[in-house]
Amino acid sequence: MRKNKIFIACDTSNLSEIKKILKQIQTNKLEIIPKFGLQFFYSKKGRKFLESFKKDFWLDLKINDIPQTALSAIDSIKDLKRCRYITVHVNGGLEMLKMIKKKTKSINKNLKVLGVTILTSLNNKSLKEIGYTKSVEQLVLKQAGLIKKSGCDGIVCSAQEANIVKKKYKKLFIVTPGIRLPGDNANDQLRVMTPNDAFRNKVSGIVMGRSLVRGNIKKNIQRLVNHLNK
Ligand code: C5P
Repeated sequence: MRKNKIFIACDTSNLSEIKKILKQIQTNKLEIIPKFGLQFFYSKKGRKFLESFKKDFWLDLKINDIPQTALSAIDSIKDLKRCRYITVHVNGGLEMLKMIKKKTKSINKNLKVLGVTILTSLNNKSLKEIGYTKSVEQLVLKQAGLIKKSGCDGIVCSAQEANIVKKKYKKLFIVTPGIRLPGDNANDQLRVMTPNDAFRNKVSGIVMGRSLVRGNIKKNIQRLVNHLNK
């Protein structure tokens, strides 16, 4: 997989807003791959739109269920020919990860499975609340091991853990949400980093939503280009 990708989180259920985002990212300044989330996929028009979408995209479904249900979910999206990345929660367990990887291989060789570890909207305090006794770093590292063992293609974690994951699992494709341009509001994200800091931590790709999509998208992309050139 080529390194240093930039994904834009198209986080809306509104088709015309999606079209607007897609139009604005057509720039020769940067290659930006769209990521569609639950809100768009669950909308009637969204599902339909993705069926005939002619460019590569990431479908961020964050599947987390028993293996059989998870497999059926993968089977249900086999018509989405340009889907290149799909997400599953590592919390679903090793067996589920293994079976999903096997299934995706059989339906679409270009579809990469990314294992979602601890959400970037959580920190050590949130983990304690849920009942975990390990820290974010420890859990992410542990889950990276499961991703590797399952044969899945990559990991979704925060850029703050990228270094330790990279050290141990050199070849793992690491994608990090929780990315903000300097000075931008972190909103509900608790583990954030700037694009340059993330790339310094050797991430393979970053996901940017609100820093690019809120306000004037073209200007925000220019801000990102300026930032990356620093
Ligand atoms: O707007 P913002 O840049 O925070 O958006 C981040 C995007 O990445 C959202 O679409 C969110 O669903 C997704 N994501 C995340 N944390 C993860 C996995 C995915 O924020 N661990």
